[in-house]
Amino acid sequence: MTADLFDTVAEPTTPWVEPLEPGAMVLRQFARRYEAALMEAVRQVFEESPLRHMVTPGGFRMSVAMTNCGELGWVTDRKGYRYDAIDPETGRRWPPMPAVFSRLASEAAAQAGFDRFAPDACLVNRYVAGTRLSLHQDRDERDYTQPIVSVSLGLPAVFLFGGAKRTDKARRIPLAHGDVVVWGGPARLHHHGVLPLKEGSHPFMGDCRINLTFRKAG
Ligand code: SIN
Ligand code: FE2
Repeated sequence: MTADLFDTVAEPTTPWVEPLEPGAMVLRQFARRYEAALMEAVRQVFEESPLRHMVTPGGFRMSVAMTNCGELGWVTDRKGYRYDAIDPETGRRWPPMPAVFSRLASEAAAQAGFDRFAPDACLVNRYVAGTRLSLHQDRDERDYTQPIVSVSLGLPAVFLFGGAKRTDKARRIPLAHGDVVVWGGPARLHHHGVLPLKEGSHPFMGDCRINLTFRKAG
């Protein structure tokens, strides 16, 4: 075999770590190792608990389409934000967290210095062209010693990562398919969001970006 032949073999890139600030980092390309299994698992979750546009307590329909898997799912409606074991759309429990999800989340957390992360909730977000997520904190969980692990799949996006105050300047971090952001410790309650998604197409799932956000909620 020639050297050229080796060069053309499509190997997922070796992941690398990009520190953001104390407690927060991007694990570039960390999810690529599981991408085939992730695609299958995401489709399965969509079948059991379909994506929907939830309504905020203020009465606005969210532009991000969401669903959940795991013991608990994050929901919002006119009554507020909370975690619930039951999907209000199906009246059943959320689909169980696929093994590849839990494994990826705890491996990413460990890589970022958070040992024994065992998420009980995974919020699945779908962004299409124009979809955005305004700056917010993840604060509906019980135990802030546990980090947030956020996996980007499909189309790229610009992630905003700010500070403890909503008015703190937010950094713009480009995220690509397979990148994983972990924030915890001193950065656990930092504000974050996503700029409007640009149009495009990606082999993972077409014209959208899928984000998996893992939490220890209960
Ligand atoms: C979230 O904050 O729930 C999602 C963040 C992202 O889509 O990257
Ligand atoms: Fe969030």
